[in-house]
Amino acid sequence: MNFLIINGPNLNLLGTREKSIYGEISFETYFEQLQVLYSKIRLEYYQSNIEGELINEIHRVGFSYDGIVLNAGAYTHTSLALADAISAVNIPVVEVHISNVHKRELVRHSTMIGKACLGTISGFGMDSYRLGIEGLLNFCDKR
Ligand code: DQA
Repeated sequence: MNFLIINGPNLNLLGTREKSIYGEISFETYFEQLQVLYSKIRLEYYQSNIEGELINEIHRVGFSYDGIVLNAGAYTHTSLALADAISAVNIPVVEVHISNVHKRELVRHSTMIGKACLGTISGFGMDSYRLGIEGLLNFCDKR
């Protein structure tokens, strides 16, 4: 099983950025914990602040890996191009958010990419990523 976690814009600053919303831990530290937890899965991580690079990465793995856990950051709410990229590939993509976007500003309540995704997880802090992996594992088992 080969899963990729993709983080979009500003998520390279986790642990530094708006700690009251996104917590104190860097993604690199959290990712190490995930790799221990899922030692039997090939788990990779990619981050970019650039929309086109995120799209390229989805294309790169989207026909050969088993699934993607995607936190598209603010592109979630704006990017038709990312939604199209998710629709274009043939592996499941789970949309995740650290914060509960529905408790926040109105502009964060809508997701442009949600319709193209297998499902959405929002509001469980960093644990949203683990729950995303669990969602992919359940889906892959059923296939
Ligand atoms: C986020 C929520 C988005 O609205 C925001 O732009 C982010 C992070 C989250 O993980 O809670 O950058 O995706």
